Amino acid sequence: MVTYRIASIGGDGVGPEVVAAGRLVLDAVAARDGFSIEWPEVLAGGAAIDAYGAALRPEDLEAVSACDAILLGAVGGPRWDDPAGRVRPEQALFALRGGLELFANLRPVTVLPALVPSSPLRPEVLAGVDLLIVRELTSGLYFGRPSEQRDTPEGRVGIDTLIYTEEEIRRVARLAFELARGRRGRLTSVDKANVLATSRLWRVVVDELRPDYPDVEVNHQLVDSCAMLLVRRPSSFDVLVTENLFGDILSDEAAVLAGSLGMLPSASLGERRTVHGRFGLYEPVHGSAPDIVGQDAANPLGTILSAAMLLRWSLGLGAAADDVESAVRAAIDAGARTADLLPAGGDGAGIRVVGTREMTAAVVDGLGSRIGVAS
Ligand code: IPM
Ligand code: MG
Repeated sequence: MVTYRIASIGGDGVGPEVVAAGRLVLDAVAARDGFSIEWPEVLAGGAAIDAYGAALRPEDLEAVSACDAILLGAVGGPRWDDPAGRVRPEQALFALRGGLELFANLRPVTVLPALVPSSPLRPEVLAGVDLLIVRELTSGLYFGRPSEQRDTPEGRVGIDTLIYTEEEIRRVARLAFELARGRRGRLTSVDKANVLATSRLWRVVVDELRPDYPDVEVNHQLVDSCAMLLVRRPSSFDVLVTENLFGDILSDEAAVLAGSLGMLPSASLGERRTVHGRFGLYEPVHGSAPDIVGQDAANPLGTILSAAMLLRWSLGLGAAADDVESAVRAAIDAGARTADLLPAGGDGAGIRVVGTREMTAAVVDGLGSRIGVAS
């Protein structure tokens, strides 16, 4: 029997609750399909600051890098929010992303028809939405140095550095081209080339790759107009590729299309492969939601859908990934809704408010036998 090793990083806030949900679903798939999963547990974020005084210990980074994949909840919370603090929970994310060279963050946005009323946008705007944001994850403003505050004769000065090498652009753009090729063949490269030198280089490097992908139609879009088009004509997008900060912002905006930030999964990938697939880090796009911790109220579907991406990308189990996604759709179609998915003022006919655990159980039930869900 094959045994996969998946590092389990609950993190802070609702992180441990949603990771528990993702694990239940993956263990159910394993039991059904005859493989097993070992779950080495690692502390990261505020939890690790409390335990060790560091957001992620070097030995833990090493331990997770020896696994087949990582499933992560969320980090951060008001307890560790001191802006002047030397250690901050988010450092764990940057250590994982940077330390493991996970340069491409895939954030797919699909609209389940039954969740159209959960979005504040009009139904006709949401028809046909199926897009994938590919966010560069290990460079740009998040990693550029210097990044600090200085005392100067003119007063305090804050400085961050936006820097991209051509290779950093090329490797993420190449993956985006490949992904577009496997989808509807349309790639939108998002930048701010009318202002930023890094964006002008970004455009040039993306254009240089075009000859390798004659089947992919490329267009360049400025990030401000892209932000508008994402809510005006979201179905016009297929794959978007963009630098770190733009991708961070646009993906939260795009979550509105899916009905709730709680629905969005993500996969962070690099070049490295294991014997089973591509090594990766999987986490929901939402944060630690400290206001609802311990209430069984968090939406587990972003993490469960991240677990599906893990099956597909890191374990090479595409059919099982499809099954998990179908089971999520079936749970939603059957009327299960966590609080974040309740339509504002809409009629509640056929809708059942459930907690994290009941939603997870609904997905696990829907997995059934492979034949049962292969619609
Ligand atoms: C995300 C989050 C993180 C980011 C925060 C928590 C540092 O917003 O993964 O999108 O900005 O990358
Ligand atoms: Mg974000």
